[in-house]
Amino acid sequence: MERVTRAFVVGHPIAHSRSPLIHGHWLAEHGISGTYERIDVAPEGFSDFVRGLPAAGFAGGNVTIPHKEAAFRLADALTPRAEKIGAVNTLVVGPDGRIRGDNTDAPGFIAHLDQSLGADWPEAAGGTALILGAGGAARAIVVGLAERGVSRILIANRTRGRAEALVALEPTRARSVAWADLPRLLPESGLLVNTTSLGMAGQPALDLDLGALPKRAAVADIVYVPLETPLLAAARARGLAAVDGLGMLLHQAVPGFEAWFGRRPQVTEALRARIVADLAP
Ligand code: ATR
Repeated sequence: MERVTRAFVVGHPIAHSRSPLIHGHWLAEHGISGTYERIDVAPEGFSDFVRGLPAAGFAGGNVTIPHKEAAFRLADALTPRAEKIGAVNTLVVGPDGRIRGDNTDAPGFIAHLDQSLGADWPEAAGGTALILGAGGAARAIVVGLAERGVSRILIANRTRGRAEALVALEPTRARSVAWADLPRLLPESGLLVNTTSLGMAGQPALDLDLGALPKRAAVADIVYVPLETPLLAAARARGLAAVDGLGMLLHQAVPGFEAWFGRRPQVTEALRARIVADLAP
C-alpha cells in the first residue's frame, strides 16, 4: 500500500488558519498523496502532542499561536535561526524520531520581498529599514533583514522597552528609536515595515504621513486582513512600492512543505488568487 505522508498545523484556536488551503493546493499541484491536517490543541496538551508526533506517523507540521514559544522549548534540536528568534513555527520529525524546530517566518518575509521588489531591494532601500512594532513577527523580520545584509535597522515601538529588547538580537545593525521621532526618520528609510496590528480589520489605522519617505522607498505590511491596509493604500497613492502581508504567509510555508513532502513548491499567482478568494468577505 502506498504510504501517505502526514503533516499538520497546530494552534488554539485554529479554525481561521489558511495553511491547510496553501498546502492542499501544493499537494494537488504535485500529485502527492499526503495530508495536511488542522489540529486544535490547548496549551496544557501541547507537550504530549509534540511527544506523540513520531508514533502518530507525522513527518512534521506548522505551529501557530499560542504554541510557538512552547515548540521552541520542546524541540529536540533547533535551526540557528529558530534559536536566535526564540520561537518555532515549523517542526520536522527526523527518521530517528527526533524533532527539529525551525522558524521560517524570517526567510518567508525575505523571499516575499525578493519576489515583490526584485533582488536589488536592499541597495534600493539605501541600507536602512524602519520597523514598526516589536512583537514576535518583528523579531523574525529583524533577524531576516540582518541575514539579508540590511546594515541599519531602526525599531520603533509604542512600548520602547520591547524595541530595546529586540535590538539585543542584532546589536551591531539594529537600534531602537522613539515612536514620536518617526516623521523625522522617514527621509532616511528605504524600507518601512509595519508589524503592529494597526490597520488590521477592527483596529485603528496607522497614523503616519508617508510624504517624507524617499521616492524609491518600499512599504511592507504584515497585516493581510484586509489585504490592502490603509498604510499600503497610502503608499500606492504616493507611487511607492507596496508589499502586502499575504506573501509572507505564503512564502513561510515553502520550507516546511519541502521538508515533509520532498518537493519545493512555488508561490504562484494561482495560489495567491486562491487564498485571496478565501479571504474575501
Ligand atoms: P505579534 O507577535 O503578532 O507581532 P504582539 O506581540 O501582540 O504580536 O505585538 C503587537 C505589536 O503591535 C506590538 O509591537 C504592539 O506594541 P506594544 O509592544 O507597545 O504593545 C503593537 N501595537 C498594538 N496596538 C498598537 C497601537 N494602538 N499603537 C501602536 N502600536 C500598537
